Amino acid sequence: MMIRVDGLRKTYRMGNVEVRALDGVTLDVAGGEFVGITGPSGSGKSTLLHLIGLLDEPTAGSISVQGVDVLRLTDDERTHFRLTRIGYIFQDYALVPDLTALENVFLPTLARGMAEYDGLERAAALLRRVGLEERTDHLPAELSGGEQQRIAIARALVNEPALLLADEPCANLDTHASEMVLDLFARINREFGQTVLMVSHEESHQRYFTRTVRLQDGVVVDDSGRASGDGDDDQARGRGDASIYPVPFHHDHGDP
Ligand SMILES: Nc1ncnc2c1ncn2[C@@H]1O[C@H](COP(=O)(O)OP(=O)(O)OP(=O)(O)O)[C@@H](O)[C@H]1O
Ligand SMILES: [Mg+2]
Repeated sequence: MMIRVDGLRKTYRMGNVEVRALDGVTLDVAGGEFVGITGPSGSGKSTLLHLIGLLDEPTAGSISVQGVDVLRLTDDERTHFRLTRIGYIFQDYALVPDLTALENVFLPTLARGMAEYDGLERAAALLRRVGLEERTDHLPAELSGGEQQRIAIARALVNEPALLLADEPCANLDTHASEMVLDLFARINREFGQTVLMVSHEESHQRYFTRTVRLQDGVVVDDSGRASGDGDDDQARGRGDASIYPVPFHHDHGDP
């Protein structure tokens, strides 16, 4: 199983008021699923994504990603885990403003310790993949919102993460740019079996997802299109031999 979340709670204490952002969420996601997380504002969508992405810690419950009990990792192990196994996409793109498109995509490969030549080649290949090979030398301010988000997707993919997490990636985009971004996610999911978790409260986005999980008041109230059976990962959908990457890449998938 790609993700296994059990009894997850997150409580914020504001003075003497308790906010239960998540109130007992249990969720399994198989490898290769494209899961949409929906629900009203304040229902806990971002909180759930942050906890699964190891950007915050729960009050109670457990999370495992690719069989690793991530809440037991040390700080260093957690940092390494985030860098090598998870790609993040935020609604404000979060690109480094004084780096070019190519440099932004290349940056995480440095942190990962990849040889510079390989990292650059990989970054260039991903820019082609997202249709922006003509924009490699542009700064973020010289790109449209949709282009910036596609750069951010390329960056999130550059270290070949098992899991892609996106929190309302289309929130600042018009309909056309949103469709391009969603098509890109769907294509990456379909062609490479990339597991994607995306928060969105747009009804029109739901047709892109292979499964929709609806939250309300911090609990799952609907979970439709769940992968049937409990078969092993990566078989339900086509993680074929195809690779997005020109450079062979070996994960250190043992415990970090
Ligand atoms: N740092 C925090 N401190 C206190 N309360 C918080 C904090 N972060 C979130 N909350 C509360 O937790 C609840 C869930 O927040 P969350 O951001 O997960 O909602 P969301 O579903 O992503 O909403 P939206 O669609 O508006 O982004 C909300 O009631 C929010 O006010
Ligand atoms: Mg949110």
